[in-house]
Amino acid sequence: MNTQLEDIVSLAKRRGFIFQGSEVYGGLAGTWDYGPLGVTLKRNIMNLWWRTFVESRDDMYGVDAAILMNPKVWQASGHVDTFTDPLVECSECKGRFRADKIDTSKCPTCGKAGTFGEPRQFNMMFKTNVGSVEDENSVAYLRPETAQGIFTNYKNIVDTLYPDLPFGVAQVGKAFRNEISPRDFIFRSREFEQMEIEYFVHPASWQESFDSLLTDIHAFLENLGLPKDKIHELDVPESDRAHYSKRTIDIEFDFPIGREELLGLAYRTDFDLSNIQRVSGKNMEYTVKGTNEKFIPHVIEPSFGVERMVMAVLSSAYREDEVNGEKRIYLALPEHLAPVKYAVSPLLKNKPELVAKAREVYECLKKKHRAVMWDDNGNIGKRYRRQDEIGTPYCVVIDFDSFEDDTVTVRNRDTTQQTRTSITDLLS
Ligand code: GAP
Repeated sequence: MNTQLEDIVSLAKRRGFIFQGSEVYGGLAGTWDYGPLGVTLKRNIMNLWWRTFVESRDDMYGVDAAILMNPKVWQASGHVDTFTDPLVECSECKGRFRADKIDTSKCPTCGKAGTFGEPRQFNMMFKTNVGSVEDENSVAYLRPETAQGIFTNYKNIVDTLYPDLPFGVAQVGKAFRNEISPRDFIFRSREFEQMEIEYFVHPASWQESFDSLLTDIHAFLENLGLPKDKIHELDVPESDRAHYSKRTIDIEFDFPIGREELLGLAYRTDFDLSNIQRVSGKNMEYTVKGTNEKFIPHVIEPSFGVERMVMAVLSSAYREDEVNGEKRIYLALPEHLAPVKYAVSPLLKNKPELVAKAREVYECLKKKHRAVMWDDNGNIGKRYRRQDEIGTPYCVVIDFDSFEDDTVTVRNRDTTQQTRTSITDLLS
């Protein structure tokens, strides 16, 4: 179906997935807060990523580096000089825009023509000061990517865990970019999360690792339930690649806002480790065990944006259909991502014996699946609709027949079919 962004934004707010950041004070552009269901969905995606790329592999190590880093990191990495977007300002209404995202012949806000001058390069890093003295020597930056926290720990990992090449180091965490025009819900935010891997390889075998990580990425996206026909590879031409990359494949996705970048896979060569060696004076060479062969490893970097994964998952799962002549909205989330796996209700909430029996079933299911919700608000129809909208795969209802034959009604979110199931089977 042709899902609109407004449908996703409205459902996300209505059902407690995602709210505008600082909404009560009028919001803060480019920031978003995850509500109870959103945080669970996001964590389910992040945990799946960590299990897939770190825990179930022998060649990956995790780190969790500090967000505030020595400013030399950002000088060595090139971010101080080149992490910029072209900015134009309208001389009439003072609106500021990314020059590469608009038609600069006419201001998109006030409509006046010829009000933009030459673009100037705007650095997207957030600056702050560390310590009590605010001067040039105390300047620090909020990290604009998690990658540098991995590169700066490369030597620590080699010296403490002695990994064989190729090996990867993974990190999940917040990144901050002072985007000129944050837009499209969580798609382009000023504070967001990344899941990144720096995969260190022998320079001669970068292509092999690049290809195999690309295959792993596609398998992960499939596991998120993203339809294959909405995923596209873009071999980024040299003129559009980041300053550090010799090859980049952007994985694009057909979002409700159009086809846009979901994640990137880049061949960063030895750009980062060589820069660290040059600026820090510390040797970043890797010695192949049992030999005298030494070199600075090259790097393949899969870089996933968590917000874009959440947006892709929500927009792929969004469905509208008709049940008993009424429009129904539901999220066909894969079971392993759904924030709530089962909702349990007594048919009537004013019948203590039904409530007690339903509570028993609820406690047992909760022990087994954890993500189980007690839901006795409104009538059964309303409960189903609510659970459909948050993507709960199964609703379990305890009624008077449950006392006769120890069965319950299990209602399937996608088909809306209801089946009688024995409590023993449900809990086994
Ligand atoms: N370390 C490489 C790097 O950061 P990037 O292409 O700038 O590369 C990687 O960012 C991913 O991070 C993007 O593919 C996207 O998923 C996500 N991302 C980047 N900027 C973002 C923003 N302003 N809001 C949300 N996600 C963003």
